[in-house]
Amino acid sequence: MEEEISRAFGEGGLLSQHIKGYAPRPQQQEMANTISEALSKSTVLIAEAGTGTGKTFAYLVPAILSGQKVIISTGTKNLQDQLFHKDIPTLRKALAMPFQAALLKGRSNYLCHYRLHQAQHDPLLTSHSDLLYDLMIWSGETRSGDLSEDDVLEEGSALWPRVTSTIDNCLGSDCPNSAECFISEARKRAQEANIVVVNHHLLMSDMALKSNGQGEVLPNADAYIIDEAHQLPNIATQFLGNRISSHQIQELCRDTVREMAQDAPDMQLLQDHADKTESALRTFHSSLGDKEQRVPWMSLLEKMGVENKLTDLIDTMEGLSQQLSLAAERGKGLEQCHNRSEVLLQTLHFFDSKQEDSQLVLWGDVRQNGMTLHATPQNISEHFQQWIDQKPQSWIFTSATLTVAGKFNNFSDQLGISEADSVVWPSPFDFEKQSLLYMPNIPVDPSHDDYLSHIIQISKDMITYSQGRTFLLFTSYRALNSVADALANIDYPLMVQGRSSKSNLLSEFREHGNAVLLGTSSFWEGVDVRGEALSCVLIDKIPFSAPDDPILQAKIDYLRERGGNPFSAIQIPSAVIQLKQGIGRLIRDHSDYGVLVLCDPRFLTKPYGKYFLRSLPPMPITQDKADVKVFFEVRETAA
Ligand SMILES: Nc1ncnc2c1ncn2[C@@H]1O[C@H](COP(=O)(O)OP(=O)(O)OP(=O)(O)O)[C@@H](O)[C@H]1O
Ligand code: SF4
Ligand SMILES: [Mg+2]
Repeated sequence: MEEEISRAFGEGGLLSQHIKGYAPRPQQQEMANTISEALSKSTVLIAEAGTGTGKTFAYLVPAILSGQKVIISTGTKNLQDQLFHKDIPTLRKALAMPFQAALLKGRSNYLCHYRLHQAQHDPLLTSHSDLLYDLMIWSGETRSGDLSEDDVLEEGSALWPRVTSTIDNCLGSDCPNSAECFISEARKRAQEANIVVVNHHLLMSDMALKSNGQGEVLPNADAYIIDEAHQLPNIATQFLGNRISSHQIQELCRDTVREMAQDAPDMQLLQDHADKTESALRTFHSSLGDKEQRVPWMSLLEKMGVENKLTDLIDTMEGLSQQLSLAAERGKGLEQCHNRSEVLLQTLHFFDSKQEDSQLVLWGDVRQNGMTLHATPQNISEHFQQWIDQKPQSWIFTSATLTVAGKFNNFSDQLGISEADSVVWPSPFDFEKQSLLYMPNIPVDPSHDDYLSHIIQISKDMITYSQGRTFLLFTSYRALNSVADALANIDYPLMVQGRSSKSNLLSEFREHGNAVLLGTSSFWEGVDVRGEALSCVLIDKIPFSAPDDPILQAKIDYLRERGGNPFSAIQIPSAVIQLKQGIGRLIRDHSDYGVLVLCDPRFLTKPYGKYFLRSLPPMPITQDKADVKVFFEVRETAA
């Protein structure tokens, strides 16, 4: 296999013939060899290689060459699309060997024929009839039914949940459209493919379902390759445990009315109970207060009226559930509504019982348009370890940011991975020559009122020196919006997160070649802009997680009670990882060059600053902005 790998990655090899600007990178080839070995021996491997190293090809090539069935999981749907629509087709040409690949996303991404049909006949949706008609035409043309594919429906559109299914409302084999169902088709293709591209949310929700003995969505595989693996602990945490949202209850009420109109029009009581439940839900939601927040459930329960309103909601739902039990024999849809009501009631009873369990964090996410109650496990390592043990296949975890101060245990302890090989490959790029780190002298800390005005001035200077071509990465929307307002009149195209979709912003940024992009967390990771279009990355603050996050708070309390130091054990490592990801957007190729701007004075003034500085690539550092000007002038003249 080593021979085949070097035939692909080596000088003048198969990849070089098909990838523009390809140059052999020894780290990439070594990584491919190590992954190939792990695949053949079915072992667990944790592999870190610097941002921009080319990890995607380093795992795709051995996965394809192995002939095994491999599930590849990435952090986001955008990365999934990039892998499936760009990287895999490139390798299909380059390797010239036959293999089948499939893309599989969560069910809410696919158009549901049955729900589209229902929506078309819903008198409340007549104002959307043109769009619904377009969707029907599109449903006959698309192969995948993936709504993001042709931008047929805007993300966040009110129609989205009406034309897609949930595990609760899908009729499965009783569906009149089951023969043409896009989800069944996508799963069938995944069953047959060698390489299946999924995302962490789908992988984790599937594993959580399987461990509860419920249906299986993903096929069995010989190997799992987890890219952007540093995100896995948080995502796994979301899927272990239990939750209930106002949206689920509302959908149950609305589906009940729809199904009643179709299969039991004589049972008007169903409508009455559904209406009463929706009204009790609204009252319960408003008892939680106007403020949008994520807070411990116990502090919500202490608010006046919350407990009573929860009891009222449970009582009205009991009534609805009783009526549904009578109606269940009328049709599959009503039977499902009955089952759903029972499951939701069970969860509501759980939150009502105020059970104390040191292993579970009970919290509420209160928003203007709804709420979710969560019961999240403190520690997922045991659960995750069981998953891995149940699957004796190879597991490959990779990312640019798994180690903190050179050690993997922050990552592996969270997932309970005890036996694994681990390797780190340093970045193939020459940061000494290709980059400069500018640490401006800001006289106030980020909490000071004047801090933002300094960030604005520094941003303006940097944009002028680098002639656009800048990413401004923020830790809060507040800072992002203030800086966006202040930069409204600059001479370069301005792209601001939230003003268009992420993929549109990125493709425009690449096309302009002199644009300025302002983004928060999702732009810190997984974004690949090779070349001069991106020559400056500015980071406004050390990316500490929001201190009001209830899961984080519970972990901090738990550790503190046991004599640990949560700041150094939890908050610093996670901020180091986030910072390394943000910085990793800058240098993506041997010929890239650029300036990194770390604004936060605490990097230099606080004792913990050294943990961050030690985790940076070896870059020349300056505190004088004139050096930045010179850095760009020298490169522009050379070009
Ligand atoms: N050997 C190579 N020569 C030139 N370009 C390459 C080579 N290998 C990969 N690339 C390109 O380099 C860029 C970075 O690759 P990739 O996105 O796989 O990096 P990565 O290691 O996954 O980084 P990150 O950790 O930030 O996700 C891509 O545009 C890719 O097409
Ligand atoms: S099987 Fe489920 S997802 Fe598929 S068309 Fe029917 S209801 Fe929709
Ligand atoms: Mg990557």
